[in-house]
Amino acid sequence: MKPTRAAEVEYAEGGMAGSYAVIRRTDPRIESMVHAALGPARVVLNVGAGAGSYEPRDRHVIAIEPSAAMRAQRAGRGAVPAIDARAEKLPLDDQSVDASMAMVTVHQWQDLDAGLRELKRVARGPIVVMTFDGDALDRFWLAEYAPELIAAERKRYPAIDLLVDHLSTRSRRATVATVPIPIDCTDGFTEAFYARPERFLDPAVTQSQSGWTFVDEGVKDRFVRELRSDLETGRWGARFGAWRTRPWFEGSLRLIVGGEPAER
Ligand SMILES: C[S@@+](CC[C@H](N)C(=O)[O-])C[C@H]1O[C@@H](n2cnc3c(N)ncnc32)[C@H](O)[C@@H]1O
Repeated sequence: MKPTRAAEVEYAEGGMAGSYAVIRRTDPRIESMVHAALGPARVVLNVGAGAGSYEPRDRHVIAIEPSAAMRAQRAGRGAVPAIDARAEKLPLDDQSVDASMAMVTVHQWQDLDAGLRELKRVARGPIVVMTFDGDALDRFWLAEYAPELIAAERKRYPAIDLLVDHLSTRSRRATVATVPIPIDCTDGFTEAFYARPERFLDPAVTQSQSGWTFVDEGVKDRFVRELRSDLETGRWGARFGAWRTRPWFEGSLRLIVGGEPAER
């Protein structure tokens, strides 16, 4: 297995940043859950902001993103410029924002404890974290084709209970919600294609999913080869065809909401 690398290297290499903005687009159904969790917050911090997915456009946003390749994609999406900084050391005063959000990024932080402490330090109100539950990754048919990917991903994602403990306050226990993934999800993480297996045959799709960079190249090649063959022979359809008609998939995507309750 390849070693973990800094975000900058990960996104600059292999053209990931280039395909990311095209394949990984805000899904409006998921977005509405995120925005509801932010409550009435007017000033929102987005940490690990990437190209700006899920960032509210009707509030004042401060975006933090350490990868230049990711920051460069924001203008094309109409997102505010991002500050070059890391979760572990936020360049913000205590309690200076109404809410913090961190979308599919905590698994990449070098020091998770420090990053979560920083989110709590700067936010007066809710802290909204979207991530994947490593223990639920094997609910997806992909686990049968690429168990190495599932194993690598499971190691990367922090335990949900750990995040909940961190984000709970004296007055409120953080909550966890399963985020239902819609059949036509526009944010191309692996589970988004549960009903559209042929999408994995497009190299831009796997390029925008960072998990593949943590397994040997041969794993991805084997997966694509076997999936292509199974789709052609009807084997995939015979085994997993029912997935094509599920309107939603309750997979491993989770929304954790901690910090203080939103103030109206
Ligand atoms: C999978 S992307 C998600 C981007 C965006 N939030 C989204 O939902 O599309 C993860 C992001 O976390 C960033 N990241 C990695 N390490 C970080 C750190 N220590 N602090 C802040 N962001 C980090 C990466 O550069 C990358 O842009």
